[in-house]
Amino acid sequence: MNAPLSRHGSIVGQSHRHDSAHLHVTGQAHYTADIPLPAGALHAAIAYSPHAHATFSRIDRAAMQAEPGVIGVLTAQDIPGHNNYGGIRPDDPLLAETRVEYAGQPVCLVVAASHTTARQAARKLSANWQPLPAILDIDAALAANHFLLPSETLVRGEPDAAMAAAPRQFSGQFAMGGQEHFYLESQVAVATPGEDNGVLVHSSTQHPSEVQHIVAEALGLRASQVTVQCRRMGGAFGGKESQAALVATLAALGARHFERTVCLRLDRDDDMLITGKRHDFQVRYRAGTDEAGHVLALDVKLASRCGYSADLSGPVNDRAMLHIDNAYWLPAVRVTSHRLKTHTASNTAFRGFGGPQGMLAIEAILDDIARQTGVDPWSLRRKNLYQPHQTTPYGMSVESAPLATLVDSLAQEGRYAEKRAAVDAFNAASPTVKRGLALTPVKFGISFTATHYNQAGALLHIYTDGSVLIHHGGTEMGQGLFTKIAQIVAEELGIRLERVSVSATDTAKVPNTSATAASSGSDLNGQAAAAAAQCLRSRLAAFAAARFGIREEDVLFANDQVFAGPNVLGFDALVKAAYLARVQLSATGYYATPGLAYEKGSFQGRPFYYFACAAALAEVAIDTLTGEMRTLSLDVLHDAGRSLNPALDIGQVEGGLMQGLGWLTMEQLVWTADGKLATHAPSTYKIPTARNWPASSRIRLLAHAPNPADTIHRSKAVGEPPFMLGMAVFFAVRDAVAACAPAKAPVALNAPATAEAILHAVQAARAQR
Ligand code: MTE
Ligand code: MOS
Repeated sequence: MNAPLSRHGSIVGQSHRHDSAHLHVTGQAHYTADIPLPAGALHAAIAYSPHAHATFSRIDRAAMQAEPGVIGVLTAQDIPGHNNYGGIRPDDPLLAETRVEYAGQPVCLVVAASHTTARQAARKLSANWQPLPAILDIDAALAANHFLLPSETLVRGEPDAAMAAAPRQFSGQFAMGGQEHFYLESQVAVATPGEDNGVLVHSSTQHPSEVQHIVAEALGLRASQVTVQCRRMGGAFGGKESQAALVATLAALGARHFERTVCLRLDRDDDMLITGKRHDFQVRYRAGTDEAGHVLALDVKLASRCGYSADLSGPVNDRAMLHIDNAYWLPAVRVTSHRLKTHTASNTAFRGFGGPQGMLAIEAILDDIARQTGVDPWSLRRKNLYQPHQTTPYGMSVESAPLATLVDSLAQEGRYAEKRAAVDAFNAASPTVKRGLALTPVKFGISFTATHYNQAGALLHIYTDGSVLIHHGGTEMGQGLFTKIAQIVAEELGIRLERVSVSATDTAKVPNTSATAASSGSDLNGQAAAAAAQCLRSRLAAFAAARFGIREEDVLFANDQVFAGPNVLGFDALVKAAYLARVQLSATGYYATPGLAYEKGSFQGRPFYYFACAAALAEVAIDTLTGEMRTLSLDVLHDAGRSLNPALDIGQVEGGLMQGLGWLTMEQLVWTADGKLATHAPSTYKIPTARNWPASSRIRLLAHAPNPADTIHRSKAVGEPPFMLGMAVFFAVRDAVAACAPAKAPVALNAPATAEAILHAVQAARAQR
C-alpha cells in the first residue's frame, strides 16, 4: 500500500471558511447575551458620573431603589475585596469611592428584574457632587505637566550632532485623533453564583485569565474558585483586552451579592461613554536629511492622551516608540514619549496598540519633507526604506521584513508611475475635483513587548468515536482563530477537519493564558495546539507500531487514515483500539516564543520574534468645494508568511484596512467643553461601511514568502498589521490637497481627514497661492 507522501499542506494553507460563518450569517451564533438565563436571573446597569472631575459624599440610593423592579443598588462599600480592575497598576476602581475622574466613570451598580428597569433607575443617580477643575486634552495636560506615567526616551546615535550637520533641516507638528472600537457586540457578561462562593462568568473578553484574577481579587476569592468562559466575541479590536474586566467583575459582584445570575450588558451609548478608546497623539519633530532626502537625524516628541488611569497606556506608548521607524532606516534618532493624564475615559488597546500612532508620525514627517522639497513622496519613502542588514532604533535586525519585495512589486503591479502621471494630468485639467495617490509600507513587530505573555497552552481530547476536541487559551473575536486552530490540529493528526471541534475558551481547561492580542493568537495557541496533537499522534503511533510489529516512524497519519506498514485502518478504528488497550487519549501542549531578549522600558534588544509587513497603494478623489472624499482604488500586497488560511487572512486585511481608513478619514471623537463625550452613538460617530470600499480593489497575499522565523507552518500574524494600510488613503488625501497648493508648499492636514478638515486644508492650500 502506498502511503501518501506529505502530511503538510492539505488542510493548513487552504481557504476553509470560518467555522462559525453559517451561524454568523443566520443569526444562530451564540454571543454572551444569547446565553439562556436561568429563572430569577437579574439585570444590571452602571450608574456613572456626570462630571469629568469631582468629589462626592452621599449617593442617594433611595431614588434609584424607588423604581419598581429594582432589586438593589451596590456601591464601592459593597465590594468585599479589592475595588480595582486595573491589570498593570491598581488605579481603576470598579466603582468610584469619593472621587470621579471622568464623565462616565462607574459609581453604582443598579440591579433589577429587567435590563430596561436597571438602566432607567441608573439614570436617577444623584449624589453630593463637588466639581473640580478638569484637564481634558493633550494641550491642557502638557501645559500643566499632568503626566500619568514617567516620560520615556529611546535614543540611537547622536541625533543633535547629526541634525546640526545635516544639509537640510525640517521641523513641524502633526496631530492624530483617537478612535472608538465600535465592536458590534458591546461589553457584556453573565455571572452565575456557584457552590461555596464560587462563580462562573461568561465574559465577552479577549483575556479570560485576567478577568478570572480580577473577579477573584474583587470578591476575595482564590482564582481556582472563579471560572471564566468565552465562546466568542462580536468583535473586540483591543477594547476587550483590559476593560472587559470592569463589566465581568461588576456582574460577578451582583451575582455574589444577590445569589442570582446577573447579566450586565452595556447599551451602545453607555459603552462609548464608559470605556476607553484609541489614544490620540500629538507629534512635534525636527528632522535632518542629506541633499538627496535620506534622513540623517530625527528628533520626535510624542504626547498621548491616556485618560484618568494607567490601564495599558504604558505598553501602548512603548509600542508607539518602537514603531517610530515604520519601514525606514533612521541612523540617528531620539523619540520622547509623554503619557498624559486627562480627566477622560482611560484609553486602551486598539488594533495596532500604539504602533499605528508611531508609524503615522514618521509617515507624516516623510510626507512633509517630500512636499517641502517638491519630490514625489513615494520616491522619498523608497529611498529611506530599510535594507535587510540594517537594524531598528532599538537594535533589532529587520531581516524578517521583506519590505523591498513588497513595495517594489506593489509599485509595479499597481502601476504607480502610470497612475502618478494620470493623476497629475487629471488635476491639471480639473479645477474642482482633485485626485491624490499614495503608496505606504507597513512593518509591524510581532510579540508582546511584555515577554512573559509570549506563552500559550492547549488541551486535546480524542473521544472513542474518533472525534477530537481542542481547548486552547486564545479567544475568538471574528478573526478566525478557532478555524486556524482546528486546521492545525487536523493537519497534525492527518484527519478530516470536521472531526475537530474547538471548545469555548475556559480558564478551567487551560490556565494562565495571555490575552488574545498583539496579533499573536495563532502564533502562540497554534503552536500549543500542534504540540498537544503531536503528543497524541506519537502515543497513537507507538500503540499502532506495537500492535502491528513495525517501527513507530513507519506509522503515518493522513487522509483520515492510519498507515501502519501494510495495514491501513481508519483513524477512528485506531482510536477505538487504543482506548480498549488503555492508551490515554488526552494531552496538553505548551509553547513559549523562543529568542526574545527585551526588558520593558529598555528600548534595546529583540522585543519581537519577527516583523509582519504589507504595503498599500491608494487613489482618492476630493471635492474641493465640499471636502468630500472618495477612495477610487486600493491595491494591497500583504505578507502573511505561508498563510494558514488565505481566505481568512484576506478577510483580516480587508477589515483592518477599512478600520484604518475609518480612523484616518472619518471617525472623530468630540468632547463638550466640560469633558462629556458628545459623539456617543452612531448618529454622530461615523464608522466606514461597505459604501466606503472602492469600486476597484486588488487585495493579495505575498506569495512564496515563508516566515524566516520558525512560526507555526511558517505563517505570519495578520490581525493588526493591515490596520496601518489605511495610511495610504490618508496620504493620498494629502496628495490631493497638495494639488491645490503652490509647489513646495507644506500641506496642513491632520488626522482624521474628515470632510471639514479637508475643506480647511484646501482653503489653506489655496490661500498660499
Ligand atoms: N478581527 C475581527 N473580526 N474582530 C476583532 O475584534 N481584533 C484585532 C484582530 N482582528 C479583531 C480582528 C486585534 S486588535 C487583534 S490583536 C487580533 O485580531 C487578535 O487575534 P489574533 O491574534 O488571533 O490575530
Ligand atoms: Mo489587539 S489591540 O492587540 O487586542
